[in-house]
Amino acid sequence: MTATSKIEPVLDVSNLTTSFRIGGEWYPAVRGISFSLQPNETLALVGESGCGKSMTALSVLGLVPKANGRVEADHIRFEGKDLSRLPDEEMRKIRGNGISMIFQEPMTSLNPVLPVGFQVVEALRYHQNLSRAGRERRALELLDLVKIPSAKSRFKEYPHQFSGGMRQRVMIAMALACRPKVILADEPTTALDVTIQAQILSLLNELKAETDMSMIFITHNLGVVAALADRVAVMYAGDIVEIAGVGDLFARPTHPYTEALLRSVPRSDRDTKTLYSIPGAVPPLTRMPKGCRFTARCELAVDICRKQNPPLDALAAGDAHSVRCWVRGNHDRAALKENADV
Ligand SMILES: Nc1ncnc2c1ncn2[C@@H]1O[C@H](COP(=O)(O)OP(=O)(O)OP(=O)(O)O)[C@@H](O)[C@H]1O
Ligand SMILES: [Mg+2]
Repeated sequence: MTATSKIEPVLDVSNLTTSFRIGGEWYPAVRGISFSLQPNETLALVGESGCGKSMTALSVLGLVPKANGRVEADHIRFEGKDLSRLPDEEMRKIRGNGISMIFQEPMTSLNPVLPVGFQVVEALRYHQNLSRAGRERRALELLDLVKIPSAKSRFKEYPHQFSGGMRQRVMIAMALACRPKVILADEPTTALDVTIQAQILSLLNELKAETDMSMIFITHNLGVVAALADRVAVMYAGDIVEIAGVGDLFARPTHPYTEALLRSVPRSDRDTKTLYSIPGAVPPLTRMPKGCRFTARCELAVDICRKQNPPLDALAAGDAHSVRCWVRGNHDRAALKENADV
């Protein structure tokens, strides 16, 4: 999607910064990121552990812990409202109704002492004007929709009687209960084995097409991204370092971090024993370096990288592919040369 597109995004996030207070100081876990989500689009957020993926989703939903967390944004626009300035009461109405979230571990999100069907019925209670019988009918429809076999006879069973994959289907049914415009899926398949993962992913794809939703899909697995996403935002240490259409990202990975992530994807034509893993680790919030945060792990780093964080710029004018890198990005080459130490 280009900047000149006339289509109104479903969700538009501008300059979002989410910080935590640690030892009396504030540290940004998400640093001034902007993105938008088009109707029926799937945007994947990828990056290693600790890059700020979950905090981005939780910030949109107003679920960042208030005790030591702070969310600032120019705006988080959804259906004409700025979610970053919405009172708690209004925000509660958005959650589940307009935007819902699917978490990684369904066992911790389902109540173990209540029958599964009852929990789906409850999810409908707060959001839709349906009679008890109507809610039960709709709950069954939803369990059928997420392809739970013999849903009717399993309605009264408890979460522990369901397999991990089936429990995740129940969570998806609950997230869909009120026909949200946007689903935030935070690593919804990581706890599942590979075959079940594939089934859940194709289910999400089907549902998205049928129900006309948009989705933000969070994962550290680029293989999953290829199967599911329309666009990809790669996050590193709180920054979006590259964003592009999925085909373009795989054909032209440009940020050294994206390249490294792609090299670490397991492939059937490669020996898994020699699987590449990116040396080093994401720095903790309290010890973020000045300049580009990937510098210490980057083979291409030059002097300016240590001094200044590069902007996220389009690779060419009007290009939907943007990269935040002094060496590979489309920046002022003269400034780079002047500062280079190689
Ligand atoms: N309540 C908190 N207090 C302080 N720091 C936090 C808190 N929650 C998260 N963080 C920090 O914010 C950063 C981003 O965390 P986030 O959970 O968004 O990462 P993530 O990309 O979702 O990682 P993962 O793949 O492990 O889920 C991390 O450095 C994390 O340690
Ligand atoms: Mg996370």
